[in-house]
Amino acid sequence: MSSHTTDNFNAIYKDYLKEIEAVLPVFLSDGSDNPDDTVLTAANYSLTAGGKRIRPVLLLAAARMLSADYSCAQAMSAAVEMIHTYSLIHDDLPCMDDDELRRGRPTCHVVYGEAIAVLAGDALLNRAYEILLNSIDLSAPGSLKAAQYIASSAGLSGMIAGQSLDLNSEGRKISMDELRNLHRHKTGALISAPLVSAALLAEADQKIIDYVSEYADAIGLAFQIQDDILDVTAQQIELGKTVGKDARDQKSTYVSLLGLEEARNQLRETDKRARIALASLKKEGLDISFLSGMTDFLLVRTW
Ligand code: IPE
Ligand code: IPE
Ligand code: MG
Ligand code: MG
Ligand code: MG
Repeated sequence: MSSHTTDNFNAIYKDYLKEIEAVLPVFLSDGSDNPDDTVLTAANYSLTAGGKRIRPVLLLAAARMLSADYSCAQAMSAAVEMIHTYSLIHDDLPCMDDDELRRGRPTCHVVYGEAIAVLAGDALLNRAYEILLNSIDLSAPGSLKAAQYIASSAGLSGMIAGQSLDLNSEGRKISMDELRNLHRHKTGALISAPLVSAALLAEADQKIIDYVSEYADAIGLAFQIQDDILDVTAQQIELGKTVGKDARDQKSTYVSLLGLEEARNQLRETDKRARIALASLKKEGLDISFLSGMTDFLLVRTW
């Protein structure tokens, strides 16, 4: 990518970030009279701690690319980031990955205690569903399909299944097929959801939905391969979370199964698949420049 294109991508990404940081706290408080703000404070602590915000950015960018209803996309992007943040709060609990650092801060349960952290995660999830329900426009069937897609990606056959597979694979040797399946669910599902839901919201042709789904599947898998690599190679200060924890917990990862070099090869292969899907979208006349920049960013990210 030329430096001009990179600058352009960075500027647009920054604008999306600004927009998302501004709307998240607004979407979190539901405006009702809350008799106790302990849980809201804890939820806000984790939600406003930063993070790359790639899920809402992907949803907004795909919505723009496909001319979907933007204010509905904004609401849905807030919901997706809340679901993601809840999954992180729970993922860090002592009963799961037992982590003390997240987004450069002590984890939610370290600051507020386990019980409040569980409730903060629950609150974010529930609020996300309220936002999704409110965003449905009964005269636009795409909005209902998009909300349903997000809900099922987060649920029993999506991210939650992946988290369960992850925990069940600790200390065990699993096959590559099982690992790919684990990654597709625990991380891929919530990366695919914003992209595919934007296509559903836009009521795009099936062919476009299929290309978007293929792109989403590839970057979802690539994202977790990179997460596995960063757990071994990143600087903790930059990553904002504990490094080396996968080996500590005997997790099944691309690095533990294949070694660092082959994990990097697999990342490149998966990235290629994403680029082919993007090229198909371009052939359909869509402006893929931002998603292409995002794909570059995801490949080289160090946090
Ligand atoms: C971390 O997700 C957890 C995974 C699913 C790998 P991100 O790397 O997107 O975390 P934030 O949102 O930027 O903190
Ligand atoms: C987390 O995967 C996936 C979800 C939170 C759903 P990891 O356990 O690998 O994520 P990190 O490394 O703690 O961010
Ligand atoms: Mg985990
Ligand atoms: Mg974890
Ligand atoms: Mg990880």
